[in-house]
Amino acid sequence: MSELHAIALAVNGRKVDAKVEPRRLLADFLRRDLDLTGTHIGCEHGVCGACTILVDGVPVRSCLMFAVQADGCEVVTIEGLAGEDGRLSPLQQEFREHHALQCGFCTPGVLISLTGLLDASPDPDEATIRDVVSGHICRCTGYQAMIAAARAVGGRVASGRS
Ligand code: FES
Ligand code: FES
Repeated sequence: MSELHAIALAVNGRKVDAKVEPRRLLADFLRRDLDLTGTHIGCEHGVCGACTILVDGVPVRSCLMFAVQADGCEVVTIEGLAGEDGRLSPLQQEFREHHALQCGFCTPGVLISLTGLLDASPDPDEATIRDVVSGHICRCTGYQAMIAAARAVGGRVASGRS
């Protein structure tokens, strides 16, 4: 076993101190070491988008990052989108309203990427939403409802209802 490295990061608002092998993928660290299994692994080479998380507010593929690279960072996974009381985020609510998931395997990654988009640009146009969703492979092929859900969140923000 190679030498372990101490890392300290925040995951979903909680401080995490851990020791990891340098080659430990961030996706595996989240799923296996922290039991945050909502981050899914599909392709393991950056293509499918299922493993997407927020690192310092930016959507990244956790299968393309090592856990040691997250040292000092703020990480948000799908488990961190809802409030402590279980209240869904506006985007999660709209996904539910629009039936924007089928099997749900790709959904955590899509929710994270669209959350990153909406945080950076609260009322994005459809072309921008489509561009973000295009980075995710949904084998159930239900993209239209996801786009409608993201647009609805933008509409809520624009009308002050968020
Ligand atoms: S598992 Fe990371 S992009 Fe597919
Ligand atoms: S909802 Fe099944 S893969 Fe997207």
